[in-house]
Amino acid sequence: MARILITSAIPYINGIKHLGNLVGSQLPADLYARYMRARGHEVLFLCATDEHGTPAELAAAKAGKPVAEYCAEMWQVQKDLSDGFRLSFDKFGRSSSPQNHALTQHFAGRLAENGLIEEVTEQQVYSNADGRFLPDRYIEGTCPNCGYDRARGDQCENCTKQLDPTDLIEPRSAISGSTDLEVRETKHLYLKQRSLRQELSDWIDSKTDWPVLTTSIAKKWLNDGDGLQDRGITRDLDWGIPVKKGSEDWPGMEGKVFYVWFDAPIEYIACAKEWTDAAGCPDSEWERWWRTDKGADDVRYVQFMGKDNVPFHTLSFPATIIGSGEPWKLVDYIKSFNYLNYDGGQFSTSQGRGVFMDQALEILPADYWRWWLLSHAPENSDSEFTWENFQASVNKDLADVLGNFVSRVTKFCRSKFGEVVPEGGTYGDRETALIADIEARLRTYEGHMEAIEVRKAASELRAIWVAGNEYLQAAEPWAVFKTDPERAAAIVRLSLNLIRLYAVISAPFIPDAAARMLSAMNTLDTAWPDDAESALSALPAGHAFTVPDVLFKKIADEEREDWQTRFAGRR
Ligand code: 2FM
Ligand code: ZN
Repeated sequence: MARILITSAIPYINGIKHLGNLVGSQLPADLYARYMRARGHEVLFLCATDEHGTPAELAAAKAGKPVAEYCAEMWQVQKDLSDGFRLSFDKFGRSSSPQNHALTQHFAGRLAENGLIEEVTEQQVYSNADGRFLPDRYIEGTCPNCGYDRARGDQCENCTKQLDPTDLIEPRSAISGSTDLEVRETKHLYLKQRSLRQELSDWIDSKTDWPVLTTSIAKKWLNDGDGLQDRGITRDLDWGIPVKKGSEDWPGMEGKVFYVWFDAPIEYIACAKEWTDAAGCPDSEWERWWRTDKGADDVRYVQFMGKDNVPFHTLSFPATIIGSGEPWKLVDYIKSFNYLNYDGGQFSTSQGRGVFMDQALEILPADYWRWWLLSHAPENSDSEFTWENFQASVNKDLADVLGNFVSRVTKFCRSKFGEVVPEGGTYGDRETALIADIEARLRTYEGHMEAIEVRKAASELRAIWVAGNEYLQAAEPWAVFKTDPERAAAIVRLSLNLIRLYAVISAPFIPDAAARMLSAMNTLDTAWPDDAESALSALPAGHAFTVPDVLFKKIADEEREDWQTRFAGRR
C-alpha cells in the first residue's frame, strides 16, 4: 500500500466555475483519488478556494458585501457544488485560513533568513480615475511576446508568458478602462528566484516521466533567458495575508499583503493542517504527508492543473519550498491539461457562455457530466464541448451500452428466474473467451489509470462495457432459455456478476451510478478485480438482487436544442 497526496489547483473564490475549469484540474484529480483509494492505497486529496487578490475584492464590492463575508458565502457555494459533482476531497479548505496566514508568513521569514528576499523600492502603476494602485492583473494591454491585445499585467493568457505590468504595450486600467495611469513609488518584496535557477533546473530535469505538456511549459519559462525573473511577492491591497516575517512585523511593509500567487500554493500545505485541526488531531498527522523528516519521504505527491498554472507550480512554488531550506515535500508528478472550448468558441464567465457547474447540475446528474468531461479531457490538445457530441456520448455509452446491459440482464433474470442469481448450467468457450478478454482489458485499464491517461482509461472502460454487451447479444439467453434453461442460467449468472464488476471499476468515473448498481446487486463487496475469473464469481447462485430504476436516461433532441440556446451566452 502506497501513500498518495493529491492536490487540485485551487479555484478562485469569485464566481462559479465552468465545466472547462472543472475538467482542467478538480475532476481528473478526483478520478485519480477515487481510483487510488479503490486500489487500497492511502490517499490524501486536498483542494481549497483561492480567496485573495483583487478579483475577490472587486467581486465583493460588486455584491455589496465585506470581502470576508463574500468569501465565506462563496466558499459554501463552491463546496456545495463540489459535493454535487461528488468531488471526494478529504478537505476543501480556504486560502484565507489562519493556518495559511501562519504558514505563508513562516515561509516568507525562512526565505528572508536565507537571503532570498530582496526589498525593492519600485514604481507602481496608480490609476487616477480609480483612485488606487492597480494590481498587475488589473492592468491590461498588448503582450510584448505575442501581440495579444488583452494580456494582463501578470500573465498573457494567450501565450502563458509571465509578465510585469510595465512590459505591456499601451496599458489601461481593467477596472475603468482609463489610460490615465501614473507611476508612484512603493516598496515591495521580491523572491530571488534567479538564484535558485540551477536547483530548479536540475529538479525539473530529474522528472523524466512528466507529461510533455508540463515539462515543455516549465522548460520554456526556465530557459527563455528572461523566463525565471525574480518575482514580486507583495501587493498594496487590504485583503490578503499581512506581510510578516514569521510572527514578527516586517518594518516598512505595514499595510501590505502577500501576492495571491505566493500564498495560494502554500494553501496546499495549510489545507492539510486545516484538515487535522478540524478533526482535533496532532500536527504529526498532517506533517506525515508534507514533511520529509516526518514520514513524507515515502509519499507520492501528484498535482493536477490547467496549463496556465504550470509555471507557478514548476518554478515559483518549488522556489518557495527549496528556498525555505526546510524538508517540505516537493511534487513528484504534475498532470496538466489544455483548455476545453465551448461550442465553437471559449467558455466565458463574463458573457455567461457555456455551462457552469450550478447549471450543469440543474439539468442533469453529475455522472452524465463526469463521463463526458473525463472521456473528452483536453489532454493532448484543446478539446471542445458540443451538445451533439455530449448527447451522442450519453445516449450511446451510458444509456445504450452500460445502462441497457444492466437493465436487460436484471429484467430478464427477474422474469425467468426471479430476483436471485440463478443456479445451474456451466460456462463454455464463449464465457472463457469473455473472461480472458475482460482480464486483459482490466490490466490495460489499470495501466492507463496509473499513468493518468484519462481519455485512454475512459475508452478502455467503455470497451469493457461493450464486451459485456456483445457477449450478451451473442449468448442470447432469451433464446437459449426456451431449449436449455440451465445454460441460460449460467449466462445470466455471469452477466449479473459483470454488473458488480462494472460498478467497482466504473466508480471513479461515475460514482453515483456505480453505487446504484452495487445496491441493486445487493452487495457491499467493492473488492478490486485483481483476477477477473474470481471477481466474476463474487455473487453466488441464490444471492438476491433487485432490478434498479433506469440508470441513465437518454437526452432527447428537443432537450439538446433547448440547452444549446440557453447556454449560448449573455446570462
Ligand atoms: O488558476 C486558478 O484558478 C488559480 N486560482 C489556481 C491556483 S493553484 C495554486 F497555486 F494554489
Ligand atoms: Zn502573449
